[in-house]
Amino acid sequence: MEYQIKTIGVLTSGGDAPGMNAAVRAVTRAAIYHKIRVKAIYRGYKGLIQGEVREFTTQDVSNIIQRGGTILKTARCKEFETEEGRALAYQTVVNEQIDALIVIGGNGTFTGAADFSKEFNVPVIGIPGTIDNDLWGTDQTIGYDTAMNTIMDCVDKIKDTASSHERVFFVEVMGRDAGFLALNTAIAAGAEAAIIPERRTREQQLDSYIGNGFRKSKNSSIVIVSESPETGGAQALADRLHEKHPEYDVRVSILGHLQRGGSPTAADRILASRLGVAAIEALLEEQRSVMVGIKNDEVVYVPLSKAISVRKDVHQDKVHALQMLSI
Ligand code: F6P
Repeated sequence: MEYQIKTIGVLTSGGDAPGMNAAVRAVTRAAIYHKIRVKAIYRGYKGLIQGEVREFTTQDVSNIIQRGGTILKTARCKEFETEEGRALAYQTVVNEQIDALIVIGGNGTFTGAADFSKEFNVPVIGIPGTIDNDLWGTDQTIGYDTAMNTIMDCVDKIKDTASSHERVFFVEVMGRDAGFLALNTAIAAGAEAAIIPERRTREQQLDSYIGNGFRKSKNSSIVIVSESPETGGAQALADRLHEKHPEYDVRVSILGHLQRGGSPTAADRILASRLGVAAIEALLEEQRSVMVGIKNDEVVYVPLSKAISVRKDVHQDKVHALQMLSI
């Protein structure tokens, strides 16, 4: 190998996601297994710029696989979006003798990573960690499964009160501009509709929900709304429905950050563990500027540039299934 990797740096960045700790644990242990030193970088790119670095042993990652959030802390760092900020970050990489970086995060994290890798020729491997599931090239991102289960539990509870009072509930979920959380939790929770940014306008989606005759066979109803500006959010849709049908008793529930917390599900722990190991193996195979992902249950390497630029679409069969099952 012409460029031998003796030390890696690992960080979490952007919105936290359940399973990030399991990924940090896997990266640390897989690196040490391969006799590579591990430097933990705190607070994402902010910590990289400020030199918040500490060497990790296997014990530093004991007893964290079950914990939500990230023990490394995280941040959304505006400074790293500038060349000056990235130059400061590079100084830390040099000072700490870090040969390669493993970054765990989503779209923003990978955008910064791709620029940094290109400008300073530092090998970077991305691990997809976001509840939004909006990275192309991997079937799922770390945290998505846990968030879905959390949302499903919340909607189950909302259904109890919705049916008791015979109300229509608009439940807003996260996802930024992607509808994966909304669509899939609508199916899992047996909701009547999902209003997502990927399909038609919000008016068309609302009209088709109303047109489905939701009150013919049921006296309560749940609509899951993706938080995206294209859907307008739950409140805007509730107002619109109320205008058209003042006879309906409508309520709004915005689930907010509770969707990002909690102990990761088994699926997220396993995904994070596989991807952490895969990230170290990718470096040993001299992969550069790639995201490690899982496609059809196999590890894949996806160029960072592609993971962030290609739009990952929701499955049409799920849109269809939800429509069919909500009659
Ligand atoms: O990207 C994860 C996410 O939870 C999005 O779903 C949401 O739009 C955003 O982060 C919220 O960010 P913040 O925690 O900074 O308010």
